Amino acid sequence: MSETVQAEKATLPSEEAVLYPPPAHVLERARVKSYEELYKESIENPEAYWEAEARELEWFKPWERVLDWQAPFARWFVGAECNITHNCLDRHVKTWRKNKLGLIWESESGETRTYSYFSMHREVCRFANVLKSLGVHKGDRVTIYMPRIPEQVFAILACARIGAIHSVVFGGFSVEALFDRIQDAESRVLITADGGFMNGKMVPLKSMVDQVAGRSPCLESVLVVRRTGEPVAMEAGRDYWYHDLAELPISQRPCPAESLDSEHPLFILYTSGTTGRPKGIVHVHGGYMVQVYTTLKNVFDLDDEDRYWCTADAGWVTGHSYIVYGPLLMGATMFMYEGAPTFPYPDRWWRLVARYGITVLYSTPTAIRGLMRFGEAWPDRHDLSSLRLLGSVGEPINPEAWRWYHRVIGKERCPIMDTWWQTETGGFMISPTPCVPLKPGTATRPLFGIEVDVVDDRGQSVEPGQDGLLVIKKPWPGMLRTLYKNPELYKEVYWSRFEGRYYSAGDSARKDKDGYIWVVGRVDDVIKVSGYRLGTAEVESALVSHPAVAEAACIGKPHPVKGNSIKAFVVFVAGFTPDDNTSEELREHVGKELGKIARPDEIDFVSGLPKTRSGKIMRRLLKAQELGLPIGDTSTLED
Ligand code: PRX
Repeated sequence: MSETVQAEKATLPSEEAVLYPPPAHVLERARVKSYEELYKESIENPEAYWEAEARELEWFKPWERVLDWQAPFARWFVGAECNITHNCLDRHVKTWRKNKLGLIWESESGETRTYSYFSMHREVCRFANVLKSLGVHKGDRVTIYMPRIPEQVFAILACARIGAIHSVVFGGFSVEALFDRIQDAESRVLITADGGFMNGKMVPLKSMVDQVAGRSPCLESVLVVRRTGEPVAMEAGRDYWYHDLAELPISQRPCPAESLDSEHPLFILYTSGTTGRPKGIVHVHGGYMVQVYTTLKNVFDLDDEDRYWCTADAGWVTGHSYIVYGPLLMGATMFMYEGAPTFPYPDRWWRLVARYGITVLYSTPTAIRGLMRFGEAWPDRHDLSSLRLLGSVGEPINPEAWRWYHRVIGKERCPIMDTWWQTETGGFMISPTPCVPLKPGTATRPLFGIEVDVVDDRGQSVEPGQDGLLVIKKPWPGMLRTLYKNPELYKEVYWSRFEGRYYSAGDSARKDKDGYIWVVGRVDDVIKVSGYRLGTAEVESALVSHPAVAEAACIGKPHPVKGNSIKAFVVFVAGFTPDDNTSEELREHVGKELGKIARPDEIDFVSGLPKTRSGKIMRRLLKAQELGLPIGDTSTLED
């Protein structure tokens, strides 16, 4: 087993941890009453399982075949035509849900807005017409760089409705990250806002866009939603106010959802990997729609009386699948909050849960740990009795945070659905459903139709209790189809490790004797900081772009709130002498290049970096030294 896997082993909680059986009130209304039977059946014939799920949604043309698997390339629901937004909106507008609340939104400033399914449908059609009037066609890429406001959701759905491919860039990413993503996708249109609010401050999104729009030859138009009302520069012939175009009569016309091949790309979402630039993960309408719908239905048991809140940003896959698409596919009422959890006080979230009667709260270990620090008095001031289920995603949840979440927020009556999945998987893969007994710190067992395993370097299943690599053994409908413009890299990154037999997730894990899977962490050069996925290579190249830096290496270090923090080692160019401000300057530089979340917590100045004879930086050695772990094999070390 690789040393990285070994190195992390000590942090894993005890697998003998106590079981939390489902409370009667949860079990009673659970759609799935017994995991074992359904899982077994689904795995004996996964295609039949997914086909039955797909039949719960509406298709413009039926499929000829459920799956065409030319490993490692999959096509699901072959020959079918559909549009995910038809299932998110039109399907409900035909029923009593037309007047049901679909979206409740509140900003930290206190503003609120609500939309019924009817009004969301109208907003999305209008937005789609505006995009068409800017010349956006089926297959065109549109970059979305927006704050967390309802228009972010409408912009995403509007692209999907006309068959354009959205590429959402998280509003917390800065200029260079946005620039790279626009170039790679060759987007013709960028949708943004004049600004957004976060933690009592204004984020000047449009002025950041101005720094990239001028040097992006592919970009023809910038569509600007008015949010803050602050004055912004508008370049004639390139920049358009959304409200101006939305008012035009042509924008009021009906805009039926385009009938698209089931495999038509829905979105590209850039995510960090081992090497170089972020990779464009490609998802498609048909299979993704089925998986997101099914998993949300089974894991959170959503019903018409629910008020569901996923605290993520729509700029991440969690937001794509479980803010935008999933809840709408279910016809649910979702709540969306723009702002910081601690603004103005650390009870903001708990206040919102009580005010809106949230029944399902889906969040991250980092957020829980962050709020835990402020103590129990803050949540205890609010009536949290509406909650029925809690969720966690993004990184392993440590048992201490799990227990706090369970006891203080869920009052020991709300099971925690710890969902393991990735940008690549499209939807939940390993997660309990409400009927599954829980152990703090594990996402429990694979979901229906999903076959996973923990294997050694040769691809053999390891014994319970042994560390290994997490793999997925069969294709699943929501799987990424390829990396944008790079099918070779897709094969190499995900399928080469076990000669095309298994999808390798890049995580190390352990199975316990009950078949529960304990995810340990990444085995590659990806660092999860506050649940955000960053590549060491990205942070290093941001550092090296500073004129004083000759070389840089980054590692992840365990952090009590963020899960991991970034530590950087830098070598300066000859003749440069650092002073007291140098560290801060470098941190700010990374913030500007990549985004605040990527700023290293610590920076060490060194005279050289450990490298292999072929010149690769051995981050493993830096990490071992930093954490006081065994150094391991150094035979390839150059010096
Ligand atoms: O390491 C795993 C971790 O997050 C990685 C995927 O990151 P990303 O593509 O940004 O997607 C995050 C949201 C789906 C995984 O390879 N991860 C995600 N969820 C969990 C997790 N690790 C442990 N437990 C989880 N529930």
